[in-house]
Amino acid sequence: MSIYNPPAGWLKPPTGDERLWVGLALCWCIIMSIAMPYWHFYGKQNPTGESYRVAPTDFTARVVKFVEANKVGEEAGVPIVEIPPGGDGYLLARMWSFYPILKLKQGQTYRLHISSMDLQHGFSLQPLNMNFQVLPGYDHVLTITPTSSGVFPIVCNEFCGIGHHSMTGRIVVE
Ligand code: CUA
Repeated sequence: MSIYNPPAGWLKPPTGDERLWVGLALCWCIIMSIAMPYWHFYGKQNPTGESYRVAPTDFTARVVKFVEANKVGEEAGVPIVEIPPGGDGYLLARMWSFYPILKLKQGQTYRLHISSMDLQHGFSLQPLNMNFQVLPGYDHVLTITPTSSGVFPIVCNEFCGIGHHSMTGRIVVE
């Protein structure tokens, strides 16, 4: 209980500028409330929210198998792996790298599985500004269709220790 009760009728309805700003904020709330579900259904690169439980050792085994079957090159000891068009690709995050380098074709659709071997990392695809959480124990599936070609760096955007700043990877689109 408060020690002082305000007098009855203390709350006055907004007037003048206050009324204008409250009105603008309310309009923006309504626009955003409509835009978010709209973008979920009509946006072109939205996450599907598809994820599965997976033990880090099992996910690592899938990555190893994927690399062995689809490796097309190597750069500084990191394999370059081409995902079969329409197929499944795997990307493993760990302290402090993304493994392997992925190669995709423009206009093809892929299912990209992302998980972590140790702790929480962030998958941030540049310069497109696509950001996803990468968690150990979860296979996060992204359905992606590259709409432009080039080299797209991946940076980790969750602080994950002393080597966080050096945790980068790459997706190459032809
Ligand atoms: Cu991984 Cu920061």
